[in-house]
Amino acid sequence: MEKALLLYSSTEGQTLKILRYIENELLGRYECEFRDLRDFPKVNFKDYDKVLIGASIRYGRFNQTVYEFIEQNLFELKLSKGAFFCVNLTARKKGKDTPEGSVYMKKFQNQSQWKPQLLGVFAGALYYPRYCFYDRIMIQLIMKITGGETDRTKEVEYTNWESVRVFSDRFSCI
Ligand SMILES: Cc1cc2nc3c(=O)[nH]c(=O)nc-3n(C[C@H](O)[C@H](O)[C@H](O)COP(=O)(O)O)c2cc1C
Repeated sequence: MEKALLLYSSTEGQTLKILRYIENELLGRYECEFRDLRDFPKVNFKDYDKVLIGASIRYGRFNQTVYEFIEQNLFELKLSKGAFFCVNLTARKKGKDTPEGSVYMKKFQNQSQWKPQLLGVFAGALYYPRYCFYDRIMIQLIMKITGGETDRTKEVEYTNWESVRVFSDRFSCI
Protein backbone atom coordinates (compact mmCIF):
# COMPACT_ATOMS: atom_id res chain seq x y z
CA MET A 1 0.00 0.00 0.00
CA GLU A 2 1.18 3.55 -0.73
CA LYS A 3 2.06 5.89 2.11
CA ALA A 4 0.91 9.47 2.56
CA LEU A 5 2.22 11.98 5.04
CA LEU A 6 -0.45 14.37 6.35
CA LEU A 7 0.98 17.46 8.03
CA TYR A 8 -1.21 20.02 9.75
CA SER A 9 -1.47 23.30 11.54
CA SER A 10 -4.75 23.41 13.45
CA THR A 11 -5.80 25.40 16.53
CA GLU A 12 -9.38 24.31 17.32
CA GLY A 13 -8.96 21.05 15.41
CA GLN A 14 -11.05 21.66 12.27
CA THR A 15 -8.10 21.23 9.88
CA LEU A 16 -7.16 18.00 11.64
CA LYS A 17 -10.80 16.85 11.39
CA ILE A 18 -10.64 17.46 7.61
CA LEU A 19 -7.43 15.43 7.39
CA ARG A 20 -9.03 12.58 9.34
CA TYR A 21 -11.90 12.64 6.83
CA ILE A 22 -9.37 12.49 3.97
CA GLU A 23 -7.60 9.58 5.70
CA ASN A 24 -10.91 7.75 5.84
CA GLU A 25 -11.57 8.44 2.15
CA LEU A 26 -8.13 7.03 1.29
CA LEU A 27 -8.66 3.91 3.40
CA GLY A 28 -7.46 0.76 1.64
CA ARG A 29 -5.42 2.78 -0.88
CA TYR A 30 -3.10 4.78 1.37
CA GLU A 31 -1.60 4.31 4.77
CA CYS A 32 -1.62 7.78 6.31
CA GLU A 33 0.74 9.21 8.89
CA PHE A 34 -0.02 12.44 10.73
CA ARG A 35 2.39 15.10 11.99
CA ASP A 36 1.63 18.34 13.79
CA LEU A 37 3.71 21.18 12.31
CA ARG A 38 3.85 22.78 15.76
CA ASP A 39 6.11 19.86 16.81
CA PHE A 40 8.68 20.91 14.15
CA PRO A 41 8.71 17.38 12.63
CA LYS A 42 11.83 16.03 11.00
CA VAL A 43 10.57 14.24 7.90
CA ASN A 44 12.29 11.59 5.85
CA PHE A 45 10.49 12.21 2.57
CA LYS A 46 11.78 8.95 1.10
CA ASP A 47 9.38 7.10 3.43
CA TYR A 48 6.31 8.57 1.68
CA ASP A 49 4.74 8.49 -1.78
CA LYS A 50 2.81 11.73 -1.24
CA VAL A 51 2.70 14.68 1.10
CA LEU A 52 -0.32 16.76 2.08
CA ILE A 53 -0.22 19.91 4.20
CA GLY A 54 -3.42 21.37 5.70
CA ALA A 55 -3.34 24.70 7.51
CA SER A 56 -5.90 27.10 8.95
CA ILE A 57 -5.97 30.88 8.78
CA ARG A 58 -5.87 33.08 11.88
CA TYR A 59 -5.99 36.82 11.49
CA GLY A 60 -5.14 36.58 7.81
CA ARG A 61 -2.14 34.29 8.13
CA PHE A 62 -1.07 30.69 8.42
CA ASN A 63 0.79 29.73 11.56
CA GLN A 64 4.51 30.60 11.33
CA THR A 65 5.40 26.88 11.53
CA VAL A 66 3.77 26.36 8.10
CA TYR A 67 6.06 28.87 6.40
CA GLU A 68 9.07 27.52 8.31
CA PHE A 69 8.42 23.89 7.44
CA ILE A 70 8.03 24.70 3.74
CA GLU A 71 11.17 26.83 3.70
CA GLN A 72 13.26 24.23 5.54
CA ASN A 73 12.03 21.32 3.41
CA LEU A 74 11.65 23.11 0.09
CA PHE A 75 14.07 20.89 -1.83
CA GLU A 76 12.36 17.65 -0.73
CA LEU A 77 8.88 19.11 -1.18
CA LYS A 78 9.69 20.10 -4.75
CA LEU A 79 10.72 16.51 -5.48
CA SER A 80 7.62 15.01 -3.84
CA LYS A 81 4.08 14.61 -5.07
CA GLY A 82 2.32 17.16 -2.93
CA ALA A 83 -0.90 18.94 -2.12
CA PHE A 84 -1.84 21.84 0.11
CA PHE A 85 -5.15 23.02 1.51
CA CYS A 86 -6.21 26.01 3.49
CA VAL A 87 -9.08 26.28 6.01
CA ASN A 88 -10.80 29.56 6.85
CA LEU A 89 -14.19 31.12 7.48
CA THR A 90 -14.19 33.39 4.43
CA ALA A 91 -14.51 30.19 2.38
CA ARG A 92 -18.05 29.71 3.73
CA LYS A 93 -19.01 32.13 0.95
CA LYS A 94 -19.42 30.84 -2.56
CA GLY A 95 -16.54 31.73 -4.85
CA LYS A 96 -14.13 32.15 -1.91
CA ASP A 97 -13.84 28.37 -1.53
CA THR A 98 -11.54 27.80 -4.51
CA PRO A 99 -7.78 28.36 -4.95
CA GLU A 100 -8.57 31.07 -7.53
CA GLY A 101 -11.16 32.81 -5.34
CA SER A 102 -9.32 32.69 -2.01
CA VAL A 103 -7.15 35.68 -1.12
CA TYR A 104 -5.26 33.50 1.35
CA MET A 105 -4.40 30.87 -1.26
CA LYS A 106 -3.48 33.50 -3.84
CA LYS A 107 -1.13 35.16 -1.35
CA PHE A 108 0.36 31.76 -0.52
CA GLN A 109 0.93 31.00 -4.19
CA ASN A 110 2.61 34.35 -4.73
CA GLN A 111 4.87 34.02 -1.70
CA SER A 112 5.77 30.35 -1.61
CA GLN A 113 8.35 28.69 -3.80
CA TRP A 114 6.61 25.35 -3.26
CA LYS A 115 4.12 24.72 -6.06
CA PRO A 116 2.01 21.69 -5.02
CA GLN A 117 0.24 19.69 -7.74
CA LEU A 118 -3.11 20.11 -5.97
CA LEU A 119 -4.59 22.99 -3.97
CA GLY A 120 -7.79 23.13 -1.93
CA VAL A 121 -9.71 25.72 0.09
CA PHE A 122 -12.28 24.62 2.66
CA ALA A 123 -14.61 26.45 4.98
CA GLY A 124 -13.79 25.83 8.61
CA ALA A 125 -15.84 26.10 11.77
CA LEU A 126 -16.94 28.81 14.14
CA TYR A 127 -16.56 27.77 17.79
CA TYR A 128 -17.35 30.91 19.82
CA PRO A 129 -17.48 29.18 23.24
CA ARG A 130 -13.98 27.74 22.73
CA TYR A 131 -12.27 31.08 21.99
CA CYS A 132 -10.60 33.30 24.54
CA PHE A 133 -12.38 36.59 25.29
CA TYR A 134 -10.33 38.67 22.85
CA ASP A 135 -10.70 36.22 19.94
CA ARG A 136 -14.45 35.87 20.61
CA ILE A 137 -14.96 39.64 20.37
CA MET A 138 -12.75 39.91 17.28
CA ILE A 139 -14.44 37.05 15.44
CA GLN A 140 -17.86 38.43 16.35
CA LEU A 141 -16.84 41.76 14.85
CA ILE A 142 -15.58 40.08 11.66
CA MET A 143 -18.81 38.06 11.45
CA LYS A 144 -20.88 41.21 11.91
CA ILE A 145 -19.01 42.95 9.07
CA THR A 146 -19.23 39.94 6.76
CA GLY A 147 -22.86 39.04 7.55
CA GLY A 148 -22.13 35.84 9.50
CA GLU A 149 -23.24 34.31 12.82
CA THR A 150 -22.85 36.76 15.71
CA ASP A 151 -24.41 34.74 18.55
CA ARG A 152 -21.46 34.11 20.87
CA THR A 153 -23.03 30.96 22.33
CA LYS A 154 -23.06 29.20 18.96
CA GLU A 155 -20.83 26.58 17.32
CA VAL A 156 -21.25 26.28 13.54
CA GLU A 157 -19.41 23.94 11.17
CA TYR A 158 -19.31 25.29 7.61
CA THR A 159 -17.06 22.61 6.07
CA ASN A 160 -18.44 21.22 2.83
CA TRP A 161 -17.62 17.52 3.24
CA GLU A 162 -18.51 16.74 -0.37
CA SER A 163 -15.78 19.07 -1.62
CA VAL A 164 -13.35 17.44 0.84
CA ARG A 165 -14.33 14.08 -0.65
CA VAL A 166 -13.67 15.34 -4.20
CA PHE A 167 -10.31 16.72 -3.05
CA SER A 168 -9.41 13.33 -1.50
CA ASP A 169 -10.11 11.61 -4.83
CA ARG A 170 -7.99 14.12 -6.69
CA PHE A 171 -5.18 13.72 -4.13
CA SER A 172 -5.11 9.98 -4.73
CA CYS A 173 -4.58 10.67 -8.46
CA ILE A 174 -1.68 13.16 -8.34
C1 LIG B 1 -8.68 33.96 16.37
C2 LIG B 1 -9.17 33.57 15.03
C3 LIG B 1 -8.83 34.29 13.89
C4 LIG B 1 -9.32 33.92 12.62
N1 LIG B 1 -8.99 34.65 11.53
C5 LIG B 1 -9.54 34.36 10.34
C6 LIG B 1 -9.27 35.17 9.19
O1 LIG B 1 -8.50 36.13 9.23
N2 LIG B 1 -9.91 34.86 8.03
C7 LIG B 1 -10.77 33.79 7.93
O2 LIG B 1 -11.32 33.58 6.86
N3 LIG B 1 -11.00 32.98 8.99
C8 LIG B 1 -10.41 33.25 10.18
N4 LIG B 1 -10.65 32.45 11.27
C9 LIG B 1 -11.46 31.24 11.10
C10 LIG B 1 -10.63 29.95 11.15
O3 LIG B 1 -9.78 29.84 10.05
C11 LIG B 1 -11.60 28.76 11.24
O4 LIG B 1 -12.28 28.85 12.47
C12 LIG B 1 -10.97 27.41 11.09
O5 LIG B 1 -11.98 26.43 11.16
C13 LIG B 1 -9.91 27.14 12.14
O6 LIG B 1 -9.34 25.87 11.86
P1 LIG B 1 -8.48 25.08 12.95
O7 LIG B 1 -9.41 24.66 14.04
O8 LIG B 1 -7.92 23.92 12.22
O9 LIG B 1 -7.39 26.02 13.42
C14 LIG B 1 -10.17 32.79 12.51
C15 LIG B 1 -10.52 32.06 13.66
C16 LIG B 1 -10.03 32.43 14.90
C17 LIG B 1 -10.43 31.65 16.11
